[in-house]
Amino acid sequence: MNTALTGALGCRYPIIQTAMGWVATAELVQASVAAGAFGFLAAAVMRPEACEAAIGAIKSHTNQPFGVNLHSFQSGVDRIIDICIDHEVAAISYGRAPSAKLIDKVKAKGIRCVPTIGAGKHAAKAVAMGADVLVCQGGEGGGHTGDTPTWLLLAQVLDADLGVPVVACGGFRDGRGLAAALTFGADGIAMGTRFLLTQESPTPQATKNCYLSSDVTRIPVSTKLDGLPQRMILNERLQAFEEASALSMLVRALVNGWRFKSHMDSSLVDIIRSAWSMARTTDLTFAQTLMAANAPMIIQKAMVEGRPEEGVLPSGQVAGLIDDLPTCEALVSRIVDEARSRLAAVNSNGALHAV
Ligand SMILES: Cc1cc2nc3c(=O)[nH]c(=O)nc-3n(C[C@H](O)[C@H](O)[C@H](O)COP(=O)(O)O)c2cc1C
Repeated sequence: MNTALTGALGCRYPIIQTAMGWVATAELVQASVAAGAFGFLAAAVMRPEACEAAIGAIKSHTNQPFGVNLHSFQSGVDRIIDICIDHEVAAISYGRAPSAKLIDKVKAKGIRCVPTIGAGKHAAKAVAMGADVLVCQGGEGGGHTGDTPTWLLLAQVLDADLGVPVVACGGFRDGRGLAAALTFGADGIAMGTRFLLTQESPTPQATKNCYLSSDVTRIPVSTKLDGLPQRMILNERLQAFEEASALSMLVRALVNGWRFKSHMDSSLVDIIRSAWSMARTTDLTFAQTLMAANAPMIIQKAMVEGRPEEGVLPSGQVAGLIDDLPTCEALVSRIVDEARSRLAAVNSNGALHAV
């Protein structure tokens, strides 16, 4: 199972556990890395001190390489970069690209840059900015997502032949998917939702139950939470957002922002700073950026507090095809075994003879 991806990131298997806010904690990363995958800590929703503590916790359990996910507009991002450098993390991942200066800084220290792209046109630019690996997330993927389906995006990026390992992402859960991605020409797979539904994922059981009982046709993309297309399970809360007017969403955001100031892990200053920084670097309106700054609180109700009916649940469509909660170890070894047997079956008989 050695591929250009295992070579670039130093993991045992060509499988990435992607970052998921409040889900890809130290506990999940430790488990996925121990199982042989490459795990990313979800530091885009962390303050620098929390990020450093989580990195310390991972390092106290393993000497395997792992990565850290961040957003260029988050408060404290420069400090988080310094922490990654001090702790010699193997890679950083990001969506909308951080500044070239920031990428140059981490690359000079030997840290790999692993952006996720959701549209073919972003691939060459990401590589020109310094990507060492490209994660191509198709539209069926969870959280913020594009609208090109996984296999079409993968074809576009592989055809561009950009000279870096390419990872298929969005909709993967098993060894058939890994075998198919490798056969297609990718160097590995990346999975979010599948790792959320494991024993070591810290997501409360009541919330995991909503994912387990979800239907593949009821996990739509909505822009109502933060102005950006985001795939989430269609619960009553999301349905209400979909039906709400722009004005009522803004009022909701303001009320939430006020309440949020007393929240343990944030402050009104943080919210305004984050909204302002996002408004400068994206095409979003002020109302959208304010809603975006509030989104974490709404997501946390489901993902941290275990009240899924009051929050929203970012999810890949693949949740509709998942009905178990294995350990990361059992999951990764099952995927690897199944991929090996699919590849062997194709090599040895039927499919090739039939062609
Ligand atoms: C609950 C949840 C939270 C997510 N949070 C983040 C995040 O903080 N940063 C990020 O880059 N991507 C985030 N994503 C996207 C995932 O990292 C990943 O790209 C996506 O889930 C892949 O699709 P899949 O779920 O079909 O495997 C999140 C996805 C989910 C389901």
